[in-house]
Amino acid sequence: MRSQILGTGHFLPDTVRTNNDLAQLVDTSDEWIRERTGIRERRIAPLDIQNSDMAAGAAKRALEAAGVPANEVDLIIVATVTGDHPMPATAVLVQQKLGAPNCPAFDISAACAGFVYALAIADAFIVTGRARRVVVVGSELLSRVVNWQDRGTCILFGDGAGAVVVGPQEDESDRASALLGTSLHTDGSLAGSLMIPGGGTAKPVTAESLDAAENKVFMRGQDIFKVAVKNLTSTCREALVKGSIDIDQVDWLCSHQANLRILDQVASRLGIAPEKVLTNIDRVGNTSSASIPILLDENVRSGKVRKGDTVLMCGLGAGISWGSALIRL
Ligand code: UT7
Repeated sequence: MRSQILGTGHFLPDTVRTNNDLAQLVDTSDEWIRERTGIRERRIAPLDIQNSDMAAGAAKRALEAAGVPANEVDLIIVATVTGDHPMPATAVLVQQKLGAPNCPAFDISAACAGFVYALAIADAFIVTGRARRVVVVGSELLSRVVNWQDRGTCILFGDGAGAVVVGPQEDESDRASALLGTSLHTDGSLAGSLMIPGGGTAKPVTAESLDAAENKVFMRGQDIFKVAVKNLTSTCREALVKGSIDIDQVDWLCSHQANLRILDQVASRLGIAPEKVLTNIDRVGNTSSASIPILLDENVRSGKVRKGDTVLMCGLGAGISWGSALIRL
């Protein structure tokens, strides 16, 4: 028994913040941001939109695409590091907004690798027969935890959500839709390279910690950049081995959108042609756990990625945690 993706969806807030808008806030320029990251603009959620609203919006679209009514959902997993509240999980608010009563719903925290982690968990529930209709969401409201005075981080991030519905494989032929392989890793020795140091129980919020912006994203960008290229390449190779798929058989690389230079280097090391690399970083920036499912859904809806295509997904972020998933759509 294997699992497969039954439908995809995404939600992006309407408000656009351009690089020139950021140049009004910090000492930066459109040229620097485009050259160093590939980003032109990102979406920002207005204050009346919460993470769970975006997550539920993406999940509803994925359920519609899958033809699955909300009352058939038997598990909801939300990958996020910017949940509505420290407690309860954002997934419970998504359950309420979807109207999927009494199914288990929980969050997982693996930052930019969160979507592939959540997909691997959904797969484990399905192949062991514990669930039949799983909603997997990656959703982030990073604009509320970004330090808008730190030019090293605020230029990168944006808000949004993406979702898939996962179910058991319906047809077991060789070319059938399936999740073919996953690979997950964490290296906790690099935890300090990308974190929100305050606001948790280790450093509860105080007036001093707020002044020091300890409740905002802190990142050593160069450290992350170097490990990203190496680890994303190796995790993709592991998923290909698990799926018994040669790199030439991959139709699309659907990677976490952290930096266009990281994407280019990973694709080149893997030997994937540039025209097979999906990107939307120029329009949405880095949306952490949401970036892979947003990118996937945009390309499914545009008709570029089609049923039967082989898609290699990978992500790396705070933890550091990283992973990949190989699917035949
Ligand atoms: O998704 C989660 C995982 N995160 C990532 O994968 C992010 C990985 N890291 C990166 O994408 C890059 O490291 C950044 C885009 C964050 C930074 O790019 P970089 O090429 O590594 O720049 P840098 O930090 O080495 O800084 C180079 C110079 C510095 O100036 P000096 O010291 O050479 O004078 C920075 O102060 O660029 C300066 N700088 C900027 N200048 C204009 C840093 N940020 C900016 C900015 N605008 N926004």
